[in-house]
Amino acid sequence: MRWVKIVLVIKYLGSKRTLVPLLGALVEASGATTALDLFTGTTRVAQVMKRSGKTVTALDSATYSKVFADTWISLDATTVNQRELTDALAHLESLPGEAGYFTQSFCIDARYIQPFNGERVDAMREIIASDYAGSWLEAPLLTSLILAADRVDSTTGVQMAYLKNWSWRSAKPLELKDPGLIDGHGDAFLGDALQLTAALPAVDIAYLDPPYNQHRYFGNYHVWESLVRWDKPETYGVANKRTDVRGDTHRSDFNSRKTMPAAIAKLLGDVNAETIVLSYNNESWLGREELIELCRHRGHVEVLDYEFKRYIGSQIGIYNRTGALVGEPGVRRNLEHLLLAGPKATLKRMIQATEHIEVRVAGEA
Ligand SMILES: C[S@@+](CC[C@H](N)C(=O)[O-])C[C@H]1O[C@@H](n2cnc3c(N)ncnc32)[C@H](O)[C@@H]1O
Repeated sequence: MRWVKIVLVIKYLGSKRTLVPLLGALVEASGATTALDLFTGTTRVAQVMKRSGKTVTALDSATYSKVFADTWISLDATTVNQRELTDALAHLESLPGEAGYFTQSFCIDARYIQPFNGERVDAMREIIASDYAGSWLEAPLLTSLILAADRVDSTTGVQMAYLKNWSWRSAKPLELKDPGLIDGHGDAFLGDALQLTAALPAVDIAYLDPPYNQHRYFGNYHVWESLVRWDKPETYGVANKRTDVRGDTHRSDFNSRKTMPAAIAKLLGDVNAETIVLSYNNESWLGREELIELCRHRGHVEVLDYEFKRYIGSQIGIYNRTGALVGEPGVRRNLEHLLLAGPKATLKRMIQATEHIEVRVAGEA
């Protein structure tokens, strides 16, 4: 099997960057031709599924994640006019900066990106809204803009705070890159997995990677949410979060100790797949044995455990603008569990396929 390196990466909490080769091998060995990536986030796992020829369904509740999935999963590189994308990226790159909502909210009132880059983000985002909204180019242009902004940000990877002093990378000029569309077929869905999963098309294999603690992605990545929605919301606090971060609308049942066990159980009942792979973590509210028990009704169960360095923000602490530590450094290692459930013969092939794969113990940022 040939693994294609994914060059465009984004800092994302819980991203399965280091597990991608392993997950790809598991999916391949299962013999699947159709695959679901629930909680797709950056779409890294869905991308590896699609690159190996599967027809992929990707779902997440974050609007920026839907944009990533529209770009890398729904679009088929063999059927679009690549020249149009190249020209549109060049057009955006040529625009002079013009300060607007993004610069004021995220570069001056808060300091995620330096103002000279924020002004270009504003100019590009306005043109995407006026010239490309509704066209096939909208998603790849937005994806390219988010990735470009991420490369020059001044955070430790989450947007609940920013560094006291500008990061070294924030001084570099923002540069749009081609996101690199992928050949093949797929579909992207935006919404709550608990409400949508039962109605998704049946697949051979499903990968489930829900959040495992109280930290909400909607608040952690509010800058990307606002950049994609371009609804220019009111904001609050030092981090300048959208005011709807405070409400209940964007709460996920997976972010609460009280609701999470029932949510996982419902998901495991709803997902229409012959084989499932569930990612979980020893910092979660459910233990390994409880998770195994929850998976049992789906067939045979196997567990693979991997040790990881924790997310970088937890290692160095998270600081606000005045330099005060707003997040404590925590335990540095965690265990990632991969629970496999399905037909015994399929699981046996999958486990065998992992034997030659080395999982690099690395940070997630
Ligand atoms: C651990 S991350 C997934 C990371 C992903 N596998 C990757 O490699 O990038 C969890 C994801 O679940 C999404 N999420 C949280 N609650 C959700 C819900 N109720 N329904 C769908 N997606 C949800 C978050 O937006 C986040 O992208």
